[in-house]
Amino acid sequence: MLILPKSDIAPSDITPQEVYQERRQFLGMAGGLALAAALGGLSTSAAANTRQKFSGVISSKFGADEKPTPYKDVTGYNNFYEFGTSKSDPADFSETLRPRPWTVSIEGEVKKPKRIAIEDLYKLAPLEERIYRMRCVEGWSMVIPWVGFPLADLIKWAEPTGNAKYVEFFTLNDQQQMPGQRSNVLDWPYNEGLRMDEAMNPLTLMAVGLYGEQMPNQNGAPIRLVTPWKYGFKGIKSIVRIKFTEQMPVSSWMKANIHEYGFYSNVNPDVDHPRWSQATERRIGTGFFQKRQKTLMFNGYAEQVAQMYSGMDLRKNF
Ligand code: MTE
Repeated sequence: MLILPKSDIAPSDITPQEVYQERRQFLGMAGGLALAAALGGLSTSAAANTRQKFSGVISSKFGADEKPTPYKDVTGYNNFYEFGTSKSDPADFSETLRPRPWTVSIEGEVKKPKRIAIEDLYKLAPLEERIYRMRCVEGWSMVIPWVGFPLADLIKWAEPTGNAKYVEFFTLNDQQQMPGQRSNVLDWPYNEGLRMDEAMNPLTLMAVGLYGEQMPNQNGAPIRLVTPWKYGFKGIKSIVRIKFTEQMPVSSWMKANIHEYGFYSNVNPDVDHPRWSQATERRIGTGFFQKRQKTLMFNGYAEQVAQMYSGMDLRKNF
């Protein structure tokens, strides 16, 4: 988002669909073969994150009644700078991420710091499917059927103290697993934050999968944040640390450019990013001739979230 020239055109828009798909399949295969060759057999990382379905996922009362974006676009057109800055890099290069074993450490303003394994996180609350509209600050959007549980359930389990006003999240910091961290495009590890009421909002999801399956590496395996009324960059991936704080966290994007990225990052069609209009969006996967559509305040979730910002100047607090 920071260093790329303005580019809002997906390869799928300029290349006929079949050719694009074939090319992607070929690239995927080539990547897989190269990896297998390099490791001299089946890679443990790839084996650890083969496509596995969750059982017993319940459907949720929250979520958009819209057709999900095709799986190949949800998993093939991503931002995950730990694997490179182009949209196909995460799908092509994230095999090095090992999402098992995985633990998340809970720190800061809590009664007692603790560590929890991903398998135990699955059991904190029933896993739900939630179909959310997702809007990237770069002007594209998707509809994604996430699998996850409310962050509120994790927070209750974590037992924050009365001083906890914010929650800060950190991505894994490991150049072996995340080779993109060798470049200084962002201040690693990637971090993000929410105000406590935002974190407790029933819409806020800890996502562990999509399309009924365990989270693919490129989408933030094994666990990531999803806040559908905020721009996509708030959705920090591959989380290993959650810290409760009294002070407002300064995110990687705020550190990169405080004039372009504020703490709140709420979807707001009336406040443009210095480099991108936020008035309209291009829904990925709907074809070349599909017109851009109007972006809605809070990405269409105003009813559930607007009251958290009443009285705030959303131009200043962008
Ligand atoms: N999390 C980490 N750790 N690293 C990243 O580069 N990119 C963000 C966000 N989370 C990013 C990240 C941005 S800019 C977007 S738009 C979304 O992930 C993209 O999420 P998706 O892959 O689910 O579409």
